[in-house]
Amino acid sequence: MQRLLLIGCGKMGGAILKGVVEQHADFHIDIIDHHANASLFSENKNLHFYTSIEQVKSKPDLTILAVKPQHMTELLENLPKIVKNSKTFLSIAAGKTLHYFEQYLGSHTPIIRTMPNTPASIGKGIIACIANKFVSPTIIDEASILLQSTGDVLWIEDESLMDAISAVSGSGPAYLFYFTEMLEKSAIQNGLPIDIAKILARKTMIGAAHLMEQDDIPLETLRRNVTSPNGMTEAGIKVLQHDDALNVLLVETLKAATKRSKELGA
Ligand SMILES: NC(=O)c1ccc[n+]([C@@H]2O[C@H](COP(=O)([O-])OP(=O)(O)OC[C@H]3O[C@@H](n4cnc5c(N)ncnc54)[C@H](OP(=O)(O)O)[C@@H]3O)[C@@H](O)[C@H]2O)c1
Repeated sequence: MQRLLLIGCGKMGGAILKGVVEQHADFHIDIIDHHANASLFSENKNLHFYTSIEQVKSKPDLTILAVKPQHMTELLENLPKIVKNSKTFLSIAAGKTLHYFEQYLGSHTPIIRTMPNTPASIGKGIIACIANKFVSPTIIDEASILLQSTGDVLWIEDESLMDAISAVSGSGPAYLFYFTEMLEKSAIQNGLPIDIAKILARKTMIGAAHLMEQDDIPLETLRRNVTSPNGMTEAGIKVLQHDDALNVLLVETLKAATKRSKELGA
C-alpha cells in the first residue's frame, strides 16, 4: 500500500495527509482538490497535487475519499476507470455506509469506512474503522500501519455504532474547543484581562489533556485530585453538576450529532 490517492484535501483530508506524510515520506501520494495548499508540503517530492481527477495516471493501491458527504455521490458517479480500479477504498465521510459505497464501487470491492478526527494532523487522532468482507487481513494490517501515523486506530465489527462513534470522536475536538472558548469568555466576565484569560484557558485544557493520556488513571480520580472537600473547585463543580445539567446537555449534544450523521448518510 505505497501508492495512495487522496480525493479532497480540506480540513480532514489535509490533517490525515499531514499525519501520513510525517511517518511515510516515501509513499507516492496523488492529491486531488480544487484548492489544496500544495506549498504546505512543498519539500516532499512524492506528493503530486492535481485539481482534476482526470489527471490521475496510475492505479492507486488505496484511494481515500475525503470530500463532504453531500459531494460524495457526484464524485463516485464520475470516477475515471483508473481510479475505480483502485485496489482498496477508504472513506472518512460522516454517515456514508459501506453499502452506499458498494453501490457505486462494486459489491465485491474492498472498502473501509472510517471516522477520524483533526488531531490526526499531529499524530494524536483516534480513527474508528470498519471493513467490508472483501478487505483481506493483509489489507487490514497495511491500513492499520498507515492510519497509525495519524494516531490510535480502533477497528469495530458493528457498523450501526458508527454514527454514535462519529458524534463522540469525529465531532469531539469541536466540543473541547468550544468549552475552552467558553472558559476563556467566562474568565473575562469574571474579571480577568483578555490576555491572561486566553493563556489560562488554553494552557489549562492542554495540561489536563496530557494528564488524561495517563489512561490507567480514571477520569474521576483525576477530577477528585483537584477537588478538595469544601474547597473552591468543589464550589465550582457543584454548579456544573446541578440537576445533572452537563450530562443532560451532552446526551442531547451526542443525540443531535448522531441524528445528523444518519441524515448525511441517507
Ligand atoms: N472536519 C472534521 O473535523 C471531520 C472529522 C471527521 C470526518 N470528517 C469528514 O471528512 C470529509 C471532509 O470534511 P472536511 O471538513 O475536510 O471538508 P472540507 O474542508 O470542505 O474538505 C473537502 C475538500 O474536498 C474538495 N472537493 C469537493 N469535491 C471534490 C471533488 N469532486 N474532487 C476533488 N476535491 C473535491 C473541496 O473543495 P470545494 O470546497 O471546492 O468543494 C474541499 O477542498 C467529510 O466527509 C466529513 O464528514 C471531517
